[in-house]
Amino acid sequence: MASRRLFVTTALPYANAPFHIGHMMEYIQADIWVRFQRMQGHEVHFMGADDAHGAPIMLAAESAGKSPELFVAEIARGRRQYLEGFHLGFDNWHSTHSAENTELSQDIYRKLKAAGLVYTKPVEQFYDPVKGIFLADRYIKGECPNCGAKDQYGDACENCGTVYTATELRNPYSTLSGAAPVLKSSEHHFFRLSDPKCRAFLKQWLEAPGRLQPQVVNKAKEWLEGTGERALADWDISRDPPYFGIRIPDIKEEKYLYVWLDAPVGYLASFKNYCAKKGLDFEKLLQDPKTEQIHFIGKDIIYFHTLFWPAMLKYAGKPYKVPDHVYVHGFITVSGDKMSKSRGTGISPLRYLEIGMNPEWLRYYIAAKLNANVEDLDFNPDDFMARVNSDLVGKYVNIASRCAVFINRKFGGRLVAARRDFAFSAKAGEIAALYEQREFGKALREIMALADAANQFVDEQKPWELSKQPGAEHKLQQVCSVAINLFRLLTIYLKPVLPQTAAEAERFLNVAPLQWSDAGTLLPAGHRISEYRHLLNRVDEKQLDQLFDVASVPGVAKEQAVSDTISIDDFNKLDLRVAKIARAEALEGADKLLKLTLDMGDGTRTVIAGIKSAYAPEKLEGRLTVVVANLAPRKMKFGVSEGMVLAASGDGPEIFLVSPDAGAQPGMRVK
Ligand code: MSP
Ligand code: ZN
Repeated sequence: MASRRLFVTTALPYANAPFHIGHMMEYIQADIWVRFQRMQGHEVHFMGADDAHGAPIMLAAESAGKSPELFVAEIARGRRQYLEGFHLGFDNWHSTHSAENTELSQDIYRKLKAAGLVYTKPVEQFYDPVKGIFLADRYIKGECPNCGAKDQYGDACENCGTVYTATELRNPYSTLSGAAPVLKSSEHHFFRLSDPKCRAFLKQWLEAPGRLQPQVVNKAKEWLEGTGERALADWDISRDPPYFGIRIPDIKEEKYLYVWLDAPVGYLASFKNYCAKKGLDFEKLLQDPKTEQIHFIGKDIIYFHTLFWPAMLKYAGKPYKVPDHVYVHGFITVSGDKMSKSRGTGISPLRYLEIGMNPEWLRYYIAAKLNANVEDLDFNPDDFMARVNSDLVGKYVNIASRCAVFINRKFGGRLVAARRDFAFSAKAGEIAALYEQREFGKALREIMALADAANQFVDEQKPWELSKQPGAEHKLQQVCSVAINLFRLLTIYLKPVLPQTAAEAERFLNVAPLQWSDAGTLLPAGHRISEYRHLLNRVDEKQLDQLFDVASVPGVAKEQAVSDTISIDDFNKLDLRVAKIARAEALEGADKLLKLTLDMGDGTRTVIAGIKSAYAPEKLEGRLTVVVANLAPRKMKFGVSEGMVLAASGDGPEIFLVSPDAGAQPGMRVK
């Protein structure tokens, strides 16, 4: 097959939180596909980036007391440990908050405008007069116009299910300031998505054979061909200040491109940034018909990637080219639960790594459950353990571990020729086709069927008995040589999923990095293998217990199921006080804890808090925080802790100490 050139991306994660298991699943899927393509000898440029712009990130930065630039830069710094930890082989990781993205987004805007596809019109919208900001629907609450239920969001009532617009709410208020919003008009820029030529183009793009999964085509066509109320509308691509984003060029007023316009352009920005680093010609590569542009995304962002994005690229013209494929996956759940930060049912990918779980177990498990459809998949801990232990350790690794020892001890590591008529090699094409189609589960089932056959061969030939039989040396060497060749073929097939184990297997086999085409050959007679070292451990049940136990950091409350309601009396049992951190010290031998001396207004106290990973002691001194003052003293390894400081945390490792507004004094009660 002629060599392909692939420009592959995964969706750009919002830069307001660490990665969760859903992100890891998407990257693992794309990474396996990319590694497979590389083993075919294809040229792949695998690009990622952070999605840094938009109102939610601007507001999150504000409440963290940071500039948005600093806020997203800090998130970006945390990415590497996940990407390296799970062997995700992106060639580049960039940001939408970058010079390249500004230049490309403005260029695309200008070209769309020149093509007559951008127009402006005034839009009347709710505005928060206190914060001085236009309010998206999610920042407005009020009473349902139908049933009168209080505190309903601006789009639909959770009580009676009525759908309405934010302006229909009774007694609306801004969730940002509590102020009553006012209607205010402003000039917005629109992309003419409803233009007949645009729609005709999208129809033809969507229907191109093999471009998209059938379910995705159906979904997109529903939107494209909607009529009446549901007709495809033009797209509002501008936002008013304050906004963290990219300026709309060539106009006097300060206006910004809506984040969903500049976000996918970030794919190109990352590619451009990478090309500059590598001395490649970005524009030439991008528009070359040979370059296949492929986006891996989740099912929640199909709309943006199958309507807006191809239309933008099409009408911006050169050097842009429409995407060749958008590959959509479903969502991962954990033990059947939708991931929820508050209930802590998700798996923290960092914790997974920290407790020493092998990233390739997760890669294998996710791969085994993936197919080419838009289906959700569940991480079930028991199933995970059974699958990994039986397939990877019990089947794959077992072949090498049972035979290597005889070759090494009795024959100086030398193999003899193995038969050439392996059904194993014949499977290479079929397995490749499954990888290509993203039918990873099916591919792994085929591979495990081969592993079963290999184990059966070893079971029948019983090398451990041959090794004791006088005169059976040659047979023993032959049997083990065959088995090691089978192991080598399995390694080739598993390599996209298990890059690290494959690298160790290559060392053991004493071969150059395996390519897919190597499946057509066998190790030659006389080839010498290396010493066998254990390749993969079993999953230990204790590790799974640790993975799901969030109570690891003393001093920070364990995330527990929050009960529905408590009485005010229950709440009043808590004595919450403002305290000033007079001194903060590291504790010898404790890598997570700090010893805090708190000024409580009427005296001092010692609290041991698990916040060392997030705060340098000297940064804390002089700060105000909130303490649970009537918590029973707790004896810990490093002393007695007389209370608990309050801090926020999510699925990731970050910890955010709570502090009162300026002016509060030590000893004040919080209620
Ligand atoms: N920033 C946008 C994407 C812009 S692309 C130009 C965004 N970010 S996200 O962080 O919310 O999601 C990033 C990707 O993770 C999306 O493809 C999304 O579908 C995927 N996932 C989020 N939760 C997921 C699961 N639970 N399971 C699998 N993937 C999920 O959307
Ligand atoms: Zn209602």
